[in-house]
Amino acid sequence: MATTADDTKTKTATRKSARASGAKSTKATPEARKKRSQSVASKSKASKTAQKAQSNGKGLADLFEHALADIYYSEKKIYKSLPKMIKAADHPDLIAALTQHREETADQIEKLEQIFALLDQRPRAEKCDAIDGILEEGDGLLEDFGDSMAADAAIIFSCQAVEHYEITRYGSMAAFADALGMDEAKALLDEILAQESATDTKLSTLAEDSVNDAAADYDEDSEAA
Ligand SMILES: [Fe+2]
Ligand SMILES: [Fe+2]
Repeated sequence: MATTADDTKTKTATRKSARASGAKSTKATPEARKKRSQSVASKSKASKTAQKAQSNGKGLADLFEHALADIYYSEKKIYKSLPKMIKAADHPDLIAALTQHREETADQIEKLEQIFALLDQRPRAEKCDAIDGILEEGDGLLEDFGDSMAADAAIIFSCQAVEHYEITRYGSMAAFADALGMDEAKALLDEILAQESATDTKLSTLAEDSVNDAAADYDEDSEAA
């Protein structure tokens, strides 16, 4: 029999409510969280062959490990790219904010290494196309606007794209760690997330309070001349 639009709606609603009730009923007890955390650590020790032998072998713990290697790569690239931005920046508060964030980035790389250690793994970087694209775009913007009166606005524009990318990734990873019962990893990820969010807010304030207006004033002056 052909599936009607109503059938599809009913199925979707059923799946949604099953997911919603499932989410409630599987809220882990402290004991269950501990068990999950131990199983993440022991699974990460198991050989890749043994993992493959299980039905495709991949689950949330694997996704977490992938995300960790991906963000480790990203942080290292961000750490290397920040000096160019700092050198091109003009506003002293922007230079200070980016310099401070570079120090925080070094600290974040160490925190990620601590998470690898919690998994009994050596730190591993996995190429992240997303951060490569964002940083490449930032390089292009610096070339186009680095010598302009809108340079600081362009730097904030680029850096906030990086911060927002990091915020989405750390938000998801903290939630994965929570679901996997990895409380120590979650605490480290929450600390990093707080630094990324604070940097983003600082850059927004700087743009809105001074940098954007200064660049816009220049546009007005040029039109008047
Ligand atoms: Fe970061
Ligand atoms: Fe950041």
